[in-house]
Amino acid sequence: MGTATIDLDAELRRLFGFAGFRPGQRNAVEAALAGRDVLAIMPTGSGKSLCFQLPALVGGGATLVVSPLIALMQDQYAALRDRGLDGVEMLASTMTPEQVDAALGRIQAGEASLVYVAPERFASRRFLEALGGAAVSRLVIDEAHCLSEWGHDFRPDYLRLADVRERLGEPPTMALTATATPRVARDIARALRLRDPVTPSTGFDRPNLMFAVRRAAGDGQKGAALLALLRRPDAVPAVVYCGRRAACVSVARELAESGFRAAPYHAGLAGDERTATLQRFLAGELDVVAATTAFGMGIDKPDVRSVVHWTLPSSPEEYYQQAGRAGRDGLPARCTLLYDGKDKGLIVFFINRAKLSAGELTAVHGSLVATADAGGVFRAAERQLPVDDPRAAVAVLERAGALEVFPAQSGFVAGRLKDSRLAGAHLSAALVAVKRVERMRWDRLKAIDGYATTGGCRREALLAYFGERVEPRQPELCCDGHGRRSAVDPDAERQATVQVASTADAVLLAVDETAGRAGRTRIAQILTGSSAAALAAAGHDQLSSYGALRGSSQAGVMKTIDGLIARGVLEQTGGLYPLVRRAAAAPAAVTARDADLRGQVVALGDARDREGVPFLLRVLAAHSSADVRRLAASALGKIADPAAEEGLIAALDDEAPQVRQYAAVSLGRLATEQALPALRSLQSSDVEDYVRSAAGVASGRIRDRS
Ligand SMILES: Nc1ncnc2c1ncn2[C@@H]1O[C@H](COP(=O)(O)OP(=O)(O)OP(=O)(O)O)[C@@H](O)[C@H]1O
Ligand SMILES: [Mg+2]
Ligand SMILES: [Zn+2]
Repeated sequence: MGTATIDLDAELRRLFGFAGFRPGQRNAVEAALAGRDVLAIMPTGSGKSLCFQLPALVGGGATLVVSPLIALMQDQYAALRDRGLDGVEMLASTMTPEQVDAALGRIQAGEASLVYVAPERFASRRFLEALGGAAVSRLVIDEAHCLSEWGHDFRPDYLRLADVRERLGEPPTMALTATATPRVARDIARALRLRDPVTPSTGFDRPNLMFAVRRAAGDGQKGAALLALLRRPDAVPAVVYCGRRAACVSVARELAESGFRAAPYHAGLAGDERTATLQRFLAGELDVVAATTAFGMGIDKPDVRSVVHWTLPSSPEEYYQQAGRAGRDGLPARCTLLYDGKDKGLIVFFINRAKLSAGELTAVHGSLVATADAGGVFRAAERQLPVDDPRAAVAVLERAGALEVFPAQSGFVAGRLKDSRLAGAHLSAALVAVKRVERMRWDRLKAIDGYATTGGCRREALLAYFGERVEPRQPELCCDGHGRRSAVDPDAERQATVQVASTADAVLLAVDETAGRAGRTRIAQILTGSSAAALAAAGHDQLSSYGALRGSSQAGVMKTIDGLIARGVLEQTGGLYPLVRRAAAAPAAVTARDADLRGQVVALGDARDREGVPFLLRVLAAHSSADVRRLAASALGKIADPAAEEGLIAALDDEAPQVRQYAAVSLGRLATEQALPALRSLQSSDVEDYVRSAAGVASGRIRDRS
């Protein structure tokens, strides 16, 4: 099919009603029509869909579009249908078997030009047969970063798309993503075996977006800042990214009480409620959606005027993708991050949770072996695997060569094992991969924290991360960071304490990275980004902690180190050149691990994060420090998930009175009736007064509520 015969501008107007192409689009469309592979890395909202929709509609044959989210498929499907375009089909798990059959029939009959499918569809024989009958002229992988474990939305079933492509006779393939790091791009091209792909060049800048950061400590200050932002003229429609589900609900409620038409949106809501919220928002019946990342990829509402982040996202990739929901119509829009240094605690929790030990990897492998047939082919429910993030574990094992993954319906993993025991070489390769992913996560956290705390231009900081430079532009059209944040910052005091907290984090990072082989001075030099030659000689300028505290004085950093030594978190070796390392666990001392853990436990409670419940229960049942157990009991009360009841009742027997006290308080909050007998016996036993009174108050609360 020659492109010369098609007037693309006319087709663009006829089919989509657009006056002209946006940067990169024509290039991608022409390449697709010429039968080339395309790797389109274009920012969120820049118009990637058109790059495959137009060739599909004018190029003849069938284009198969693989897309990871039903909401996203539905959105595009509906938009095309609304424009009166024929030949657009969708296969989704939400459809009835009859609807799926009818769609497959039309595909088989060659009536489809654009077919949207989820990756797990390739596990269906019926579907593969239908495809066998209808030649696929083009394959499209939308949100292609899902096949890179470096991407933030990794999906194991995306890994098998290369095989799918082969089975379809290697049709020209277009992969699209808004995730820009070169590593992700390389992964995509390699995994799909793209041949000399055309890469349309668009800058990564979204010139109509303005960026700002507001420091706000705690929910109170954040709420006030949010209201102020949303009350400005032209601030809505708006999306507020809240991170955790509970925050979505409370933020939406508060906004509604302040007169906004607001609703929460998260994966815990029933599917139809979520769809209804999305529909109302798209139709302009809602001013604000308070959402988790579930409201993300590919959702297209052109006139979002503000995107506010209630908490720090875990990476610049995630931030830019979500902020990019604003201003897709090209008109000015604002992206504001509400920054509280404490929010890093949760991200640290997830980074630590994602770490996999040799024991865990072996256990996951063992569970897969248990479901495997004689040929090593396995299929297991994700929740059967004994780790917090089963998908990540399977991905790591795949990467290490211990298994290959097949497409599977969501909630399941399937594939083929290499051996019935996890070979030593595979295990060590897997551990290396775990370490690499962990380091990448720390680097990303550092980068987004750097964005939030930079004194310079925010756009420049973001784009530099994606490997681009920006042309200077007028401050009022750019960001709040053009040196206009003055020394008389009302939050300066608060900022100072945040700084102290994060200085300690940074010191610990540097100590870990130097593995106990550096002294106080060296650590301070590393953190302040010193250019001393000895640093480079030792490779210390390559560490991710290098320059983490640029701008602080070495003396100040050394003070922090000394403080950590005094608190027993770090220790110094003896000798002429004493080295600094993490303190060995001493029963009386607050160990560094405990310090980390405390932060995580408290943050989980404050975030009312249900996902943290299993972790907190483990801490409550088994941690050696009574104080940490007490914090876990308290956090479980704040989250108030019934799943914690049994563990809290057991904690009424804890050897430490303060743990019993907090367990009682939390059971009161949860109104757990089964706890009444145990609470009653605590009240009448010979225990500390405060335990007895906590038990009494809790019993009263439970009786009131029942
Ligand atoms: N040439 C064009 N002229 C005007 N508007 C356009 C053009 N191309 C796309 N758009 C509009 O831009 C918006 C974003 O398009 P699209 O959903 O394809 O973005 P995307 O790059 O896929 O973003 P995401 O990364 O979020 O998936 C849509 O509202 C679309 O209608
Ligand atoms: Mg898209
Ligand atoms: Zn700027």
